[in-house]
Amino acid sequence: MDKFRIRGGKPLHGAVQISGAKNSALPAMAAALLTSEPVTLHNIPKVRDIITMGKLLAFMSATVSMPTFPSDTYSIETNSLNDAVAPYELVKTMRASILTLGPAIARSGVAHVSLPGGCAIGARPVDLHLAALEKMGAQIATEHGYIQAKVPNGGRLKGAHIVFEKITVTGTENILMAATLAEGETILENAAREPEVTDLIHLLRKMGANICGDDSSTLRIHGVPKLRGATHSVIPDRIEAGTFLIAGAITGGELTISNCQPAHLGAIIAKLEKTGVRVETIEPTTLRVHAPKTLLASDVTTEEYPGFATDMQAQYMALATQAEGTSVITETIFENRFLHASEMIRMGASISIDGRRAVVRGPAKLSGTTVQASDLRASAGLVLAALVAEGDTLIDRVYHIDRGYEAIVEKLQSVGAEIQRLHS
Ligand code: UD1
Repeated sequence: MDKFRIRGGKPLHGAVQISGAKNSALPAMAAALLTSEPVTLHNIPKVRDIITMGKLLAFMSATVSMPTFPSDTYSIETNSLNDAVAPYELVKTMRASILTLGPAIARSGVAHVSLPGGCAIGARPVDLHLAALEKMGAQIATEHGYIQAKVPNGGRLKGAHIVFEKITVTGTENILMAATLAEGETILENAAREPEVTDLIHLLRKMGANICGDDSSTLRIHGVPKLRGATHSVIPDRIEAGTFLIAGAITGGELTISNCQPAHLGAIIAKLEKTGVRVETIEPTTLRVHAPKTLLASDVTTEEYPGFATDMQAQYMALATQAEGTSVITETIFENRFLHASEMIRMGASISIDGRRAVVRGPAKLSGTTVQASDLRASAGLVLAALVAEGDTLIDRVYHIDRGYEAIVEKLQSVGAEIQRLHS
């Protein structure tokens, strides 16, 4: 298992280019199952989860190709899709595999997708995805660890009025895709409004889908009998951009962050400004972050978009360890998402956890040690903490970070960080 060795204490200076959003690319790739024509996707990040999704789609009988190698363009063509199976071996490494369920049952009337199971940050069930598909006429059984879904008599799903009990991002995406090929109208209420959902709507529309309600929590989808191929460029990764904003701020540096979408970063920029960080818009897709002399503590609560993203919570915690005063961080989306805190405490941070609240007292002098990454965003938080720690930090299990951050070592090195990947 690879490790990162980071020597902290260097202010970061220079420019970083943001890659395409993993969480937009994954549903976009799954959407290619909805049509027999090729779907060409640009700005796809080179990260492990994309490779996993490519393998999964190929297993389900899609032809997944890159016109040139390596490139950020994928072409996916699914001539036919009969009895497609999403196997446990692939699903267990990436929960987003559940995104194949909606398109598969909508296109072929049948789907077999392994249950994703739990993960480090919480139970993360898929009950809301299944209940919605049942409302659309699917018969669903869970047998031998698999979701076995079918539309009776080989027919099509039927439009339905669905009110999500809880806001779910991949649940919204799954049902949105399923509804594009259903008979009649589907109304989705309490839908997720994340920019990645809107990006998926833009792609589906290019494929011929009839959807109203972009950026709103009520989506109306008029099913069509068939969708066509399309070409689409996925949006920039707002979580990668937010992580680099914090990297500039925590190290006392100044970073230019290009190819990002500032409109998607409203909550994180507002929070950083409360801590004294200055974020300047240089061009429509370029930001520059200026670290203050002294970082100030500020409380944060994670929320669905447009609130402060749970996927930025670990990175913000790293920043809070360096801020003067007490920051209370409340995690409302996942029940067990403070695994990084114990590792930050081992580095010298003052953090106490009480259920869904973490109280961080700063500034703390962090010192390097060996720490374990427990999930994708927790690893990013540990990298940020290591960038300000005294001496060397060895981060173990960085396969988590490779799932979602393209070339993070090279990008950090290019702005002056002392970071190496140790292969083992
Ligand atoms: C997506 C993102 C992930 C992000 C999360 C929250 C992708 C590929 N992943 O994950 O990076 O952290 O949104 O912004 O886009 N829930 C249920 N039943 C369900 C579905 C969800 O109870 O059927 C609960 C979950 O356990 C969680 C909450 O709803 O507590 C939100 O989860 P959800 O939005 O579904 O997260 P994902 O779509 O898995």
